[in-house]
Amino acid sequence: MNNYFEKFEKMRIAGKLAAQTLDMLTENIKEGISTDYIDKLGYEFIRDNGGHSAPLFYRGFNKSLCTSLNHVVCHGIPSKERILEEGDAINVDVTAIKDNHYGDTSRMFCIGKTSVKLNNLINVTYDSMMKAIQILKPGIKLGDIGYTIQSHVEENGFSVVRDFCGHGIGTTFHESPNILHYGKKNTGMELKPGMTFTIEPMINAGKFDIKVLNDGWTAVTKDKSLSAQFEHTVGITENGYEIFTESAKGYLKPPYL
Ligand code: MF3
Ligand code: CO
Ligand code: CO
Repeated sequence: MNNYFEKFEKMRIAGKLAAQTLDMLTENIKEGISTDYIDKLGYEFIRDNGGHSAPLFYRGFNKSLCTSLNHVVCHGIPSKERILEEGDAINVDVTAIKDNHYGDTSRMFCIGKTSVKLNNLINVTYDSMMKAIQILKPGIKLGDIGYTIQSHVEENGFSVVRDFCGHGIGTTFHESPNILHYGKKNTGMELKPGMTFTIEPMINAGKFDIKVLNDGWTAVTKDKSLSAQFEHTVGITENGYEIFTESAKGYLKPPYL
């Protein structure tokens, strides 16, 4: 892939908008608000900053972002009825489109005091994503990403969800290759400069099995154990990587403030 400079310029802009949306939400997410209010804040922020929310009307999804609480693995649908309570952990997943390019990122948020186990799950999930990002460079293979995440997660007694994966991203939301969050070293496609994709491990405190609820979207752990996720959009450079969705405010993982 030659001359990806212009593509990376646009990925930076889209990624920055998605990350700024999460930064804004970090300062607003608190006990007593509904997940629909988070959706409204995200929708308005992205619109007011010259972008569009990718999830809105994507394959029939009718909200602007995903809100996944506690045992919800991913794709939780914002609702007026679900009010954030002390002890909740919520993943908010934002995907912004700007100048035809996509930036996709998610973080966990804790409401008030959360359990030691939940905090540990969140830390292990974040660290598994960052460890995988830190090995990125041309010549490594997709299996190395999965292996890095899976070994860190399993050493800590948690499990990697198999039914959802990271994905290529650029001028479309989801494209090849699939980025599995489990795998074997030195297997799969080799990374090349110019590739852009997400890493977004979903990690369960119990078993990795999930099921999708009747709404067609909400994925929950089958054993009702807690689940956590973080996501970054990244690009492969000549000698390493670039994270397009880094927080300008240093909001990496809870506690943020
Ligand atoms: N943002 C999710 C991802 O990381 C996809 C959400 S699709 C939606 O790929 F329709 F549920 F929003
Ligand atoms: Co994604
Ligand atoms: Co996402």
